[in-house]
Amino acid sequence: MSIEVQPITPALGADIYGADISRDDHFEIIRQAFTDYAVIAIHGLNLTPDDHLAFARRWGEINVNRFFKPVDTHPQIATVLKEADQTYAIGEDWHTDHSYDQVPAMCSILHAIETPDVGGDTAFSSMNAAYMALSEGFREFLDGLKAWHSSRHAFGAVVADSEAHETGRIANADAATQDALHPVVITHPLSGKRCIYVNSDFTTHFDGWSPQDSAPLLQQLYDHGARAEFTCRVRWKPGTLGMWDNRATWHKAINDYPGQRRLMHRVTVEGVPLV
Ligand code: SIN
Repeated sequence: MSIEVQPITPALGADIYGADISRDDHFEIIRQAFTDYAVIAIHGLNLTPDDHLAFARRWGEINVNRFFKPVDTHPQIATVLKEADQTYAIGEDWHTDHSYDQVPAMCSILHAIETPDVGGDTAFSSMNAAYMALSEGFREFLDGLKAWHSSRHAFGAVVADSEAHETGRIANADAATQDALHPVVITHPLSGKRCIYVNSDFTTHFDGWSPQDSAPLLQQLYDHGARAEFTCRVRWKPGTLGMWDNRATWHKAINDYPGQRRLMHRVTVEGVPLV
């Protein structure tokens, strides 16, 4: 079977069909698609958790998430679950995974196990497209800023009474102690492209600014980054393996399937310091 790469939108994303992820020649095509499109969705796979981990290890060391419920048999795999009677979907606001770490994860690799009949897509947005659409003077202003990111308000004691904690999908509130300072605009380690690197889940404030002073400009960037022309959606079926570059994109789980179950397995791969 031949492998086929189909771009999803001009901004980012590619669907991949006919891949055999154990083949080296197919892996090289997948690697190139990941560099070119920042988000890829490989459809029609039939993977075990061990296959998922083996694929992830081809990209780098596994970065084990501290807060998501692990898969019982495979503690390096995080469960991303919404039961039919639950209302909150993990990751339903725009964000990039692990930006609160000093060295944020390179990519996340999500394997669809059980999906709603329709809905439950993930939306992605290109932070290079968002940056390039800003005026030159604004880009130069942002280039000089740094921002703080934290896990405390997202996974810590302040949210320990949330539905995600109470249902055991998110745990370890005591481990939410990470704070990290990153440039507001990074040079992407693979493509060399400039990308906005703040996100609405984890960024708390600009360095040297109070959270109150930071809020209006952060909100402006969040509204701008969510513009439809920078985005694509991945539509999951059981057996789809999606992968995104956390340094080049935001994503959000679209929570539009009340009364249905959605189960995904996620593996995150280590990155490099951001400049
Ligand atoms: C995540 O934010 O990592 C989960 C995305 C999804 O479930 O679609």
